[in-house]
Amino acid sequence: MLKTTSKQYTKKSFWKNKSILITGINGFIGGTLAKQLIGLGANVIGITNKKNKNKFLSFEKISSKVKIYNVNIKNFDSVEKILNNHKFSICFHLAAQPDVNIAKTHPFETFESNIRGTYNMLEALRSHKSIKSIVVASSDKAYGEYDIKDLPYKENYDLRPLYPYDVSKASGDMIAKSYATDLFKLPVVITRFANIYGPGQLNLTALIPDCVLDNMGHRKFIPRGDGHNKRDFLFSEDVADLYLCLSYNLFKNKNLRGEIFNAGTGHGYKVKDIIRKICFLSNNKELYANIEKRFKNKKLTGEINHQFMSYSKLNKLFKWKPSHKIDDGLRLTIAWYGKFFKKYKYDDFLR
Ligand SMILES: NC(=O)c1ccc[n+]([C@@H]2O[C@H](COP(=O)([O-])OP(=O)(O)OC[C@H]3O[C@@H](n4cnc5c(N)ncnc54)[C@H](O)[C@@H]3O)[C@@H](O)[C@H]2O)c1
Repeated sequence: MLKTTSKQYTKKSFWKNKSILITGINGFIGGTLAKQLIGLGANVIGITNKKNKNKFLSFEKISSKVKIYNVNIKNFDSVEKILNNHKFSICFHLAAQPDVNIAKTHPFETFESNIRGTYNMLEALRSHKSIKSIVVASSDKAYGEYDIKDLPYKENYDLRPLYPYDVSKASGDMIAKSYATDLFKLPVVITRFANIYGPGQLNLTALIPDCVLDNMGHRKFIPRGDGHNKRDFLFSEDVADLYLCLSYNLFKNKNLRGEIFNAGTGHGYKVKDIIRKICFLSNNKELYANIEKRFKNKKLTGEINHQFMSYSKLNKLFKWKPSHKIDDGLRLTIAWYGKFFKKYKYDDFLR
């Protein structure tokens, strides 16, 4: 396989004026990626089903620099129409119902967006010869439960998900792999990343925003387990950088078709320790003492116990590694929520 030695993938000459489709453009990762692509001179076009979420793009001052279609990817004809209007060479398929809690109560909606949405996108892209690179976002959740002694997950582990969100991502993941086979030869790679955090995460029930917003007086953080379960966290700007890396390399090297890429920091943080870090970085030890009591006797249900993974395959092939340490990423994240919720009303972001 082709090896990349430097950050060739961030050269403007590659991205300039290329038509790039991002599904889920006004979401957390989609918005972060769009910002980087705009900076590289790309022509960014996106799909979303929730226009009211554009506040992240507006806040980051890029909403007028991208073209957005308000379309549900569950609808094949609507997706096909968009593809017929443009000559896309690159696609990032990020749109999904990504909230584990919502998936527990609304499995049907989750399956529809994450499974049907994925095969609609790939089926529509299949007839477009201009497309040279498609990155599909799966998740570490697709692996399901493994004993902690078998972690970090490796890319060749079987997918054995049980819970609705996890099953929806594993299904989309396998569908994507099927489109990448010799049958269809669609240029697809699949990402299975750990939890992502950072500026723009507006699914406020996720661990980090939930705790940061408790500190800001907007929410009460309710733990979902006793705090001893382990999770891995990647900073959103590192993830966007990694998406550029994968997309560029697939564009340049068809042999990557069908490859799976894990990314995490390789470190399993106890949920409790992340909460402690946030409280301490926010100078609020009292909040930590308070939350610590809430962890007592909490039992994790409908979720995987421990999850973490490394970036060793990515590092071996592309020399990629995350550039943010957890404390630095958390500091940037806490500061961003402070600024964002000075400008926008917290209540507007409740589901
Ligand atoms: N955030 C994480 O921690 C994390 C970790 C691993 C993988 N992922 C995956 O990364 C991707 C992006 O996640 P995110 O955190 O940015 O989520 P997000 O909720 O911030 O954004 C999701 C985007 O998808 C769009 N969308 C959802 N359903 C749609 C539909 N039916 N039709 C059209 N658009 C639809 C939303 O409008 C939004 O723009 C998802 O596929 C998610 O499963 C996320």
